[in-house]
Amino acid sequence: MKILYKVFLCGCLYLATITYSAKAGDGSAGNTSNDFQSSGEKVVQVVTACDGRKKVIVEGCNEGEAMPEQKARKVAQLLMTLMEFCEDEIIAKLPIAEMSIQLSLNGMPYVTVRDTEEIPLVLAHGGRQHTEREKKIWAAEKDRMIAEGYALFHNPGLGKNGISCDMCHPDAANTHPETYPKYQTQMNKAVLLRDMINWCIENPMEGDKLAEDDTKMKAIEAYIISTRAGKQLDPGKH
Ligand code: HEC
Repeated sequence: MKILYKVFLCGCLYLATITYSAKAGDGSAGNTSNDFQSSGEKVVQVVTACDGRKKVIVEGCNEGEAMPEQKARKVAQLLMTLMEFCEDEIIAKLPIAEMSIQLSLNGMPYVTVRDTEEIPLVLAHGGRQHTEREKKIWAAEKDRMIAEGYALFHNPGLGKNGISCDMCHPDAANTHPETYPKYQTQMNKAVLLRDMINWCIENPMEGDKLAEDDTKMKAIEAYIISTRAGKQLDPGKH
């Protein structure tokens, strides 16, 4: 079956439709494998997006070397565009001359698209809706984290004097997570929600403060924030 890509060139509203079979046939589509050897002996830098599924191979830049600003912006913009195609594995090759970009989607052969000022492509295939199954898994994971935070919030074990958070903040009342960062006079500086959580652990509860990346800290934050769903952020509000 032929897979059809629609490539939308924003700059000149030029719409091109490219079929993989045609591209693979004319030999200009480049290498059919997705390993980075496909760039041959050229000097390249591989930049990977945070989901690990998108890569931009920048030709003419050494690995570990800072790119010139204009090039770095171009790569960042390209990665952001590619990130819209959540589930897909995409490799983009950015040649030194930057007249065109080569793209490979989910291990398919590379196709060449014209470069423009704006990153040009919207693959018609992308942007699919998340499935019900995915949404259920994600909601369950989020709820699990919040439930863990709820349990900790009601657990005197966080401190040493038998007092738990909920005894002073029933249903997370008066925790105001939407007002952070904000200046707190007891610390004489602007702080984050987690700093106030630790302040309360150390002070009224006489416990040992949690590390900022402690999963307990994350869970407590998650619970407190979840109680203010829909509330507008208002950093600094007193
Ligand atoms: C003995 C009562 C008491 C306990 C127990 C307590 N707090 Fe507090 N908490 C306070 C008071 C009083 C303040 C107000 C401090 C201030 O703003 O000067 C406060 C402030 C806070 C704030 C900032 C609120 C704001 O308006 O910005 C957060 C967040 C918070 N507490 C979270 C917690 C958490 C999480 C726990 C449990 C680990 C906890 N507190 C335990 C009394 C308590």
